[in-house]
Amino acid sequence: MPELCVILGDGIGREVIPSAVTVLRTVIPDLETVYAQAGWDCFEEQGVSVPYETFEQVRQCRAALFGAVSSPAKKVEGYRSAILTLRQELGLYANIRPVYSLPRVSPQPGVNMLIVRENSEGLYVSRERREGDTAIAERVISREASLRIGRTAAELAMHTDRCHITIVHKANIMPLTDGLFRDCVREAVTHFSANGFALQVDELLVDIAALKIIEDPSRFDVIVTSNMFGDILSDLASYWLGGIALAPSLNMGDGISLAEPVHGSAPDIAGKGIANPIASILSAALLARHAWHDDEAAGRIEQAVKQAIVEDLYDEFGRQVSGFTTNLALESVLKYL
Ligand code: IPM
Ligand code: MN
Repeated sequence: MPELCVILGDGIGREVIPSAVTVLRTVIPDLETVYAQAGWDCFEEQGVSVPYETFEQVRQCRAALFGAVSSPAKKVEGYRSAILTLRQELGLYANIRPVYSLPRVSPQPGVNMLIVRENSEGLYVSRERREGDTAIAERVISREASLRIGRTAAELAMHTDRCHITIVHKANIMPLTDGLFRDCVREAVTHFSANGFALQVDELLVDIAALKIIEDPSRFDVIVTSNMFGDILSDLASYWLGGIALAPSLNMGDGISLAEPVHGSAPDIAGKGIANPIASILSAALLARHAWHDDEAAGRIEQAVKQAIVEDLYDEFGRQVSGFTTNLALESVLKYL
């Protein structure tokens, strides 16, 4: 029986995640859910952004759905971003961000790429220091993590019927770090291909990759890249989905996954009931597909979202209908499931 740990978080996380849970419960009736805390409000109440019990519950369920968390604008002693803490402590080393054309809201049909972002190191190791008037950030690339993300990208390609992997890096400027990343990813993918599943591999420098994502998005199938490049390129690529409000993602480790809409906690619209739950609902579909290997449930959810967009939620110019609410979106998706 699939189990899910639900972490609402702050702001609109509390409004959009319940919609995604309702959708999941509808397509997977025997789903068991537990609730856990994380985020800024949790930090204010308990002094930690992710309490120990939250890690335990996610580990036990092996699947989580996470809303969004607010972060203070300036450094607060003892506070650490909840999502970065969860990724690190739970060993969620891959962040997958599919980008595909949706009816009405996407600027162009025919886009279908999967961004596989290394999620454990690079510039996200938080090793910054000051030396007098110079500030230095360390960017860590290891053979182990690079081979692992290469293997993950190859496996995901196989499971989602994709055959072309593009490695995105900046090895011309960082031959040691990104040279190692590129070589390890190539090695992992080539090794995987040698075992019977033929994958085509090419590579692009990150700056030209950014241009190509906009100029020629259908050239991409799977993109595999390091942490910060993946962070930036996935926001850029979400343009093709119709914007970041619609973009889903899944953090993955060995036998453990945490789905998360790419958008933030949007304090400006929180509490008004107008937040768009589609990114969360599409993130829930990723859990169904990748955590529970239920392609049928995932496909049903994605299909219902597409239909809801066309029938009820967006006009022919791709604008949200007037009177759009979180509830309207949920009711509409439920109707087409
Ligand atoms: C994302 C976000 C996070 C990141 C922030 C909130 C720490 O931008 O999930 O892409 O940089 O990874
Ligand atoms: Mn980001």
